[in-house]
Amino acid sequence: MQIFIKNIKEIVQTEKKFRDMVKGKEMAKIETLKDAWLLIEKGKIAAFGKMEFIDSIKPSLKNDAKVIDATGRMVFPSFCDSHTHLVYAGSREIEYIDKIKGLSYEEIAKRGGGILNSAARLHNTSEEELVESAMTRLNEIISYGTGAVEIKSGYGLTTEDELKMLRVIRKLKEISPLTIKATFLGAHAVPKEYKGKQTEYVDHIINEMIPMVAADDLADYIDVFCDKGFFTVEDTERILMAGLKHGMRPKIHANELDYSGGIQVGVKYYALSVDHLEYTGDEEISCLLHSETMPTLLPGAAFFLGMPYAPVRKMIDAGLPVAMASDFNPGSSPSGNMQFILSLGCIKYKMTPEEALNAVTINSAYAMDESEFQGSICVGKKANLYITKPIPTYEFMPYSYGSNKVDTVILGGNIIL
Ligand code: NIG
Ligand code: FE
Repeated sequence: MQIFIKNIKEIVQTEKKFRDMVKGKEMAKIETLKDAWLLIEKGKIAAFGKMEFIDSIKPSLKNDAKVIDATGRMVFPSFCDSHTHLVYAGSREIEYIDKIKGLSYEEIAKRGGGILNSAARLHNTSEEELVESAMTRLNEIISYGTGAVEIKSGYGLTTEDELKMLRVIRKLKEISPLTIKATFLGAHAVPKEYKGKQTEYVDHIINEMIPMVAADDLADYIDVFCDKGFFTVEDTERILMAGLKHGMRPKIHANELDYSGGIQVGVKYYALSVDHLEYTGDEEISCLLHSETMPTLLPGAAFFLGMPYAPVRKMIDAGLPVAMASDFNPGSSPSGNMQFILSLGCIKYKMTPEEALNAVTINSAYAMDESEFQGSICVGKKANLYITKPIPTYEFMPYSYGSNKVDTVILGGNIIL
């Protein structure tokens, strides 16, 4: 079926030539087309152009084409959310109160809260219930404009429960119109049974979990929480090596709580992305500059936890690309609203609207191996896009934080909302 969108006030992030990401000064540029039309065919972006030349496309339009009049409204590529933990059982607002009262993330984790709390709850929840609650979250993020999402395991922490989480993600891939990537995060925290025996737990991940995850082809990527109080650089090296042997490229949690060496070890093992990066200094920046690893910021977590923000200006000014993702999870970022992440990028990282838009689309698409297929409005790419409500400018998107500016959602060429 064809979908023809006409009278578009502005198409944002048009791309004539394919790029897999943008970095440094390039991040401050986006191309747009004002007063335009866009044609979708066979699930892909078939063509777009100016309304004044609409006659050129008319012969290609079929009689049954669905026509959308977008007068006053803009078209954007869907957000790509390259880092979430949105399969979980139950919210954790009790810890939120602890946090308000002043306990740190590490203190809450030490008291048996945090990730271990989510693991205990997940253990007692069926796969069907997990699919149902995750679908509700996926439908919510679709309504906010997300078109692709990465989801991690890591609230299982036993072989059985890690596989259960990954099977849930596989089911979500089948039933959701979103593009979904799965990441195995057995090394999210050391479970209670292995308290004081962290190396043994790492052995268990390597010898049992990874081969079983790989045997059922349940994960696209492998992750480790490489940080102070969690997994060491040595643990991380061993796990990443084992994952790579089974075809899982790393996407890791690094430098959220300290200068953990996580960035360097991620780059060493050819990580697709290193994520969080609140603690990033000159050494880490220079290491990233010589890599194909996408530095990924999660401002929602820094915002929610009241932690320092990553030095993003310094990173972009040094020539790096950056992506942003939501980190949607019950402990440190209970929201998958990428419009809010866009606003946080501008307000807290001092990114320009153009830089922030690139960070939540083309660059976050790169961070989940999707920039060939989505992340910009480019002929031949998947038709994953949204039409806004009437808005005055594209800068209004980050400016008007807190309200949903998305009106119509098209994913894979289907009108979803
Ligand atoms: O990305 N940093 C590690 N993991 C998650 C938090 C998960 C949780 O607290 O449940 C994060 O912030
Ligand atoms: Fe995370």
